[in-house]
Amino acid sequence: MSTKDASGAAPMRAFVRLLIGVAIAVPVMALLLLAGAWGREFWLSSRPVQSAAEETSPALIARGAYLARIANCAGCHSPRGGAPLAGGLPLGTPFGTLFSSNLTPDPETGLGRWTADDFWRAMHHGRSRDGRLLYPAFPYTSYTAMTREDADAIFAWLRQQPAVTQTAPTHQLGWPYRWQSALAVWRLMYFTPGDAPSHDDTVVERGGDGGAAQDAAGQAALARGRYLVQAVGHCAECHAPRNRLGALRDAAGLRGGWVGVQGWIAPSLADPHAAGVQDWSDAEVRSWLRSGWSPKGAALGPMADVVAESLQHLTDADVQVMSVYLRGLPREGSPVAEFKPAPSAQLDLGRQVYAKHCADCHGDQGQGRQIAGEPAYPPLAGNRAVTLDAPQNVLQMLADGGYAPTTPAHPRPYGMPPLRQVLTEAEMAAVATVIRQSWGNRASAVTEQEVLRLK
Ligand code: HEC
Ligand code: HEC
Ligand code: HEC
Repeated sequence: MSTKDASGAAPMRAFVRLLIGVAIAVPVMALLLLAGAWGREFWLSSRPVQSAAEETSPALIARGAYLARIANCAGCHSPRGGAPLAGGLPLGTPFGTLFSSNLTPDPETGLGRWTADDFWRAMHHGRSRDGRLLYPAFPYTSYTAMTREDADAIFAWLRQQPAVTQTAPTHQLGWPYRWQSALAVWRLMYFTPGDAPSHDDTVVERGGDGGAAQDAAGQAALARGRYLVQAVGHCAECHAPRNRLGALRDAAGLRGGWVGVQGWIAPSLADPHAAGVQDWSDAEVRSWLRSGWSPKGAALGPMADVVAESLQHLTDADVQVMSVYLRGLPREGSPVAEFKPAPSAQLDLGRQVYAKHCADCHGDQGQGRQIAGEPAYPPLAGNRAVTLDAPQNVLQMLADGGYAPTTPAHPRPYGMPPLRQVLTEAEMAAVATVIRQSWGNRASAVTEQEVLRLK
């Protein structure tokens, strides 16, 4: 008996000791982590900042206006139908809804009392004037790589805008995300001020210009292109994957990601079969960036907004270097899945829907249509937006329709009507499948479940 007792008690005692150990170690580690995170925040905020440009010349203000366009501040801070830059636009994230701030010079609810240094801390360090840590739904994770001069220029321009009194609604975040300490820990893990996503070693010019980037001028063009794409244009904020805690994974790689919780995919800019432009000519890329149109397809959804609000304003010099950088991104294809044709019943249904609802605009053979010599409706045959691995963008177009961006090159874009109320889920899945599997397109079939998940 006694031996049996002893052999049972020893593991029991060890287990209790382990429990006590864990009960002490976990809070101690949590405290150490918090102390580390806040200690770093304190250290970051106490570091001296470079002094601001004193001048507020018209040239500086004009430069600020341009940079604010390319950085698309208005895209998040000017709600549709609301006062420009007055904030309050809701941004859905997997962690809750955040509302953009008022950037007008109103002293109470905007940036009226801010100095250029305060503004720099927000853009570079992700901290508000009162020291509050800012949520990375404000893409300071990319803007942090902007230069002090450029931040000052934007600030000088913002100060010239009409003041609007408007308080942003309170963020709606679940626990622990609303907790500043959680954000401090997040920043400890994922954010370093000034840390530009960069590919210095791997980016090589592989476009048609062959070797153009080898010389000093080429290197400077590449560096400027990288700066515009990675810092100012913050392309990675949509075009790079994120981990479960919402942090960008290898932002510089631009390997494709989800756009917030909108259900759109921003495809990989590294993959020429997704959104990569490595195989496009320089002229095609430049024209696409400014117009959102090419014979190969149109900019859709959130990307149409980016072109309309931002990229169409690129100067000749900047669109040129952006093209150099994008065409030179290291290629990385995804493995091609084996092609499985859909059941013929689904294809038959899809063909009926296509003939009735799509062929008028996109053509019997998915060849698209021109009106008066101008491209009006994009081709669906050979269109990589249609054959992208993930069918979500096609389903978004079918459900909500859309307009290509309005630009000088394309002043009256044609639209696509929303079909959410018109087609059943089965019909939507079937027509999506048909366009993905006709005229030489060879992508996976779309199921009703995928359509339902979208809604
Ligand atoms: C993708 C959306 C998005 C874009 C683009 C964006 N912002 Fe914001 N911004 C936000 C959100 C959301 C907040 C609120 C963050 C918070 O409260 O933690 C914010 C907060 C700020 C703040 C802090 C204000 C305060 O009261 O603390 C400043 C300053 C700011 N943005 C400036 C800019 C500028 C300048 C640009 C363009 C260069 C810009 N933002 C582009 C979403 C965006
Ligand atoms: C009234 C004309 C019209 C009809 C009808 C129409 N579309 Fe479209 N479609 C357009 C236009 C215009 C665009 C470009 C919109 C944009 O750039 O946002 C487009 C874009 C698309 C795209 C994205 C292509 C790209 O280049 O990225 C897909 C996919 C698509 N349509 C499929 C369909 C299907 C399937 C149907 C029938 C169920 C259909 N469309 C019906 C006009 C139409
Ligand atoms: C707000 C999110 C968002 C931002 C920011 C963004 N994109 Fe996109 N982008 C998308 C989405 C969504 C698509 C897929 C829809 C489409 O094909 O237009 C896309 C598609 C593209 C395509 C593929 C076009 C085609 O016809 O295949 C290119 C190229 C592109 N983006 C370049 C850029 C560049 C360069 C930047 C930065 C200056 C950028 N994007 C910033 C969301 C974004």
